Formats: sequence, C-alpha cells, structure tokens
Amino acid sequence: MRKRIEDIDLSIRKISEKASQKEDVVRFDIGQPSFDTPKHVKEAARKGLENKQGYSPMLGLEGLREEVAAEESEKKGLSVSSEEVMITTGGMGALFAVFAARLGEEDKAVFNDPCWGPYKMISEVNGNEWSQVNYWNSDRELRSEARQEIAEANLVVVNTPGNPTGYVLTEDQAREIAEVAEDNETFLISDEVYHRLVYGKEHYSPASFVEDAAIIGSVSKNHAMTGWRVGWIVDRPENIEEYAKVSRASTACPPRISQYAAIEALQDDSHVEEMREAYHERRDLLVERMEDIGWDFVAPEGAIYAFPDVGKDSWDFCMNMIDEGVAMVPGEPMGPESDTSVRICFGSTTKEEIEKAFDLLDKA
Ligand SMILES: Cc1ncc(COP(=O)(O)O)c(C=O)c1O
Repeated sequence: MRKRIEDIDLSIRKISEKASQKEDVVRFDIGQPSFDTPKHVKEAARKGLENKQGYSPMLGLEGLREEVAAEESEKKGLSVSSEEVMITTGGMGALFAVFAARLGEEDKAVFNDPCWGPYKMISEVNGNEWSQVNYWNSDRELRSEARQEIAEANLVVVNTPGNPTGYVLTEDQAREIAEVAEDNETFLISDEVYHRLVYGKEHYSPASFVEDAAIIGSVSKNHAMTGWRVGWIVDRPENIEEYAKVSRASTACPPRISQYAAIEALQDDSHVEEMREAYHERRDLLVERMEDIGWDFVAPEGAIYAFPDVGKDSWDFCMNMIDEGVAMVPGEPMGPESDTSVRICFGSTTKEEIEKAFDLLDKA
C-alpha cells in the first residue's frame, strides 16, 4: 500500500458512526440537502432511460455542456462556450482531474484555513504537496502570509461560497485573490459548487478576473442531487483536453442517465429558489440561536454551513454532544487554526430540528 494512502485520516467517520448508533440525534454533521431531487428532474431521468444506455461522450453530453455554458455565462463577467466545459463525475471528479493533470510530486497546492477536507485528501492520493493558511483578515483583506503562500505555490484553491464557513467573497476579494494568483503564475481553481446558495449577497467568480483559471461546478448541492454525481470543469479547450485524459483513466465518462437529469435541473430550475429561501430561513434562525448561546462566529452568507468557535477542543465537544443528541463535525481536521470550531450544516435539518438541537445545546 502507498504510505500516503495509508496515512489518510478518515477520523471524521467516528462522528457519523457514533451518531447513527444513537436514536433521535439532530444530524448537523451531514453535508447534504434535506430536500430530495425535484420530481421533474427524476422524471427526465426516467424518460432518458428510453434512450440507449451506452457510454456518454468523454467530455459529457453536448446538451449538458451547453446548459452549463449558459449557466456559467450568467455569472458576473463570464462568457463561456460549450467547448470550455467538461462534465465530470461530481465536483469531486472535476477537482481530481485538475489536480492530477496539473500537480506533480514536487508541486504545491494552497488551501484556506479552514477548508473542505477532501482538498487535502485529493492531494494525498495525487501525491502533490499542500499547505494551508488563513486567507482573509477580519477586514476582508488578503493576509500577507496568504500572499506569500500563494506566490510560492503552483495552484491555489478559492472556494466561494465556502465550506465549512459559509463565507462569500465580495467582488474586491474575488478580484484581489485572483490577481495575486495571476501575478505569481499560480494556477487558480475556483470552487463554486454552492454558487446559487447565497443569502442577501451577490456571488462573484474569482475566475472572471483572470485569464488562467478553472471553475468547478456541480448539481449536487444547488439542485439537491448529491447522489447523481454530476459536476463540471470550465477552462480553456486546450486545458480541457488534458483533464479529459485523467477522467478517461478513472471513470471513462460521467453516467449518462444522471446527465439527462442534470440537463432538466439546469433548464427548469425554479426549485433552486424555493430551496434557497428555506435555507435562508434556517440560516437566520441558526444565527439567532448561536448569538443567544454566545459563540464566536462569522454569520454565514452562503452555502449550507456555519462554523462557530465553541472555545473547546472540537473533537471532545462533538463526541460529547452526540450523547446529548446533536451531531456536528469537529473543525480540527479542517485546519490548524480551527481546532476549537465546529461545522454545523443547516442544509440537512429543518427549522424544528435546529430549535430542538439548540435547546439541547443550551441545556448541556
Ligand atoms: C466545497 C466543495 N467542493 C466540492 C464538493 C464536491 O461536490 P460533489 O458532491 O459534486 O462531488 C463539495 C461537496 O461537499 C464541497 O463542499
């Protein structure tokens, strides 16, 4: 076994294992929507079954590439054509293809502290180096340490709206970090898988400010389609050719049936606004209850997560709170500066469950 694989730490599983052994636990730990995939989307998949179910084209069905190009073009300052789109097996497949195509053993990626854990895991499997630094100060300016790390790295990942914090970059922040990457010839990955889930803010794509960048997108969270495994990369056609080689060597092509569903989700997307409004209400309630409890946090502006500092060892806190009936994810694996923070997913719970969980937390 490769040592780097053996060393990958899946300790976060301890939370879901413990939570599923106990009855009546509020599951703030599950990072996916409480909603099911909309009916009309499932119907499109059913209809799609009538077609021959062979491999799909390596870069994805042309109809879906066109829908993605149209959706990405709606973002500020972007003009995307279908040749610049490759459909992948989830956003995860998209990230893996870009890392594998771009980063060799000596090369380094830099991530925010905190960041979504799988960036590190993808790096470990791919074999590249990585580092983590808190990008932003409390005035929303890029920290000098972050500039330095980005300048020294080969690739920087920017995730807006962010997992695990719900942080959404302003236009100035998106431009600033993209330009620092460009000035230092550090390749920019802009992970925007939550781009439609923002609350009272605008989404800005850092990729719209520079020539050289890859956007990562997905139907998983925006459309409540985590199990369908459809994502994409947007980049120049010559780079797409290279990413396609990685996809060819891993999954060959994304599942055909899921792509029919994704076309429908992007074409007829009124469900997104309904879900976004429900998340917004849950987010407001969560903020209110976190204020009452006195935790230190930045109110989430997007995605489906909050990341309060609970002032205690995050592992002890999360393991103990499962006994009290609330499951959350410890911040420790998400970054060295995050070991007293916890991730709360409000996408996976109802308002009633949020009230119940905070009554239990208050009591504890
Ligand atoms: C920040 C971020 N990027 C990428 C992904 C991967 O998305 P997918 O489910 O489409 O693979 C996730 C999923 O949780 C995520 O949170």
